[in-house]
Amino acid sequence: MTEITQLATDSWAGPCSAQDQATAIAALEDGNVLLLPHLDFPLRDTERELYFQSGGVEVKGKNISLNLADNSVRGSHADAAELGVLRDMMVRFATDSRALVHALLPGYAATIEQGRTSFRPVEVAGRPSSWRKDDTRLHVDSFPSSPTRGKRILRLFTNVNPHGQGRHWRLGERFEDVARRYLAALPNPLWGSSQVLAMLGITKGRRSDYDHFMLQLHDRMKADSAYQGSAGQRDFEFAPGCTWMVYTDQVPHAAMGGRFAFEQTFYLPVAGMQDPAKSPLRVLERLMERELA
Ligand code: SIN
Ligand code: FE
Repeated sequence: MTEITQLATDSWAGPCSAQDQATAIAALEDGNVLLLPHLDFPLRDTERELYFQSGGVEVKGKNISLNLADNSVRGSHADAAELGVLRDMMVRFATDSRALVHALLPGYAATIEQGRTSFRPVEVAGRPSSWRKDDTRLHVDSFPSSPTRGKRILRLFTNVNPHGQGRHWRLGERFEDVARRYLAALPNPLWGSSQVLAMLGITKGRRSDYDHFMLQLHDRMKADSAYQGSAGQRDFEFAPGCTWMVYTDQVPHAAMGGRFAFEQTFYLPVAGMQDPAKSPLRVLERLMERELA
């Protein structure tokens, strides 16, 4: 079962003690949630006003995202002035997130890559969705169009809800137990399909066998109603003003309710881990007795 490891860290830039650093990396790689209950992301008055007084700008999908490559902000109907406020806020969150990773997980600094940043103002509960995109069902993260070829997906969240509302998650069993449950039933990729998907631009780069099986696992878990109800799991409310980190490619999770959270995605090559044997790539390779990426 996924555990919650807490640290008293209250500053994005550190410094963090060697003991906290050791606790953090072990907790994450073991497939636990690292909770920093005292690490808040304070908003500026303009940001509060945009979101919490004026009702906020309209969001097109689940969230608003920032691409750090060109600082473009996508996913809302914001006008130019609102877009400026959103961009500043999200760039600040991205910068703070990076600082925290460097301070708390210095062993990752040399190889970690920062992915997209998102702001999630929409209430999770009752959001319409197809089963495949329904994040209220337990799943491990795997993205159809963005193969990682084994790289880890490490995500950092902060709940900034101004009304005292927690972000309600369910957390599931150990990755190896989920993998063992479904592995025999997962079909092999069709020969040549990864080249075709990349050629047609459906995937960004080639989908490895690892990505294929992770996507299958994601889909099987979400489609399996019996599993959703009967799998070992726990509920957890992430209170406003707290930050948490988790390897979402490893830890089965479901977001059940809450609104107004930030999220930052990081990618880490398996070789950059303290213990690569704990990665989903190496676990699947061991269970299947072959190379997958
Ligand atoms: C997810 O990764 O499934 C959603 C997490 C969240 O928005 O709280
Ligand atoms: Fe997810």
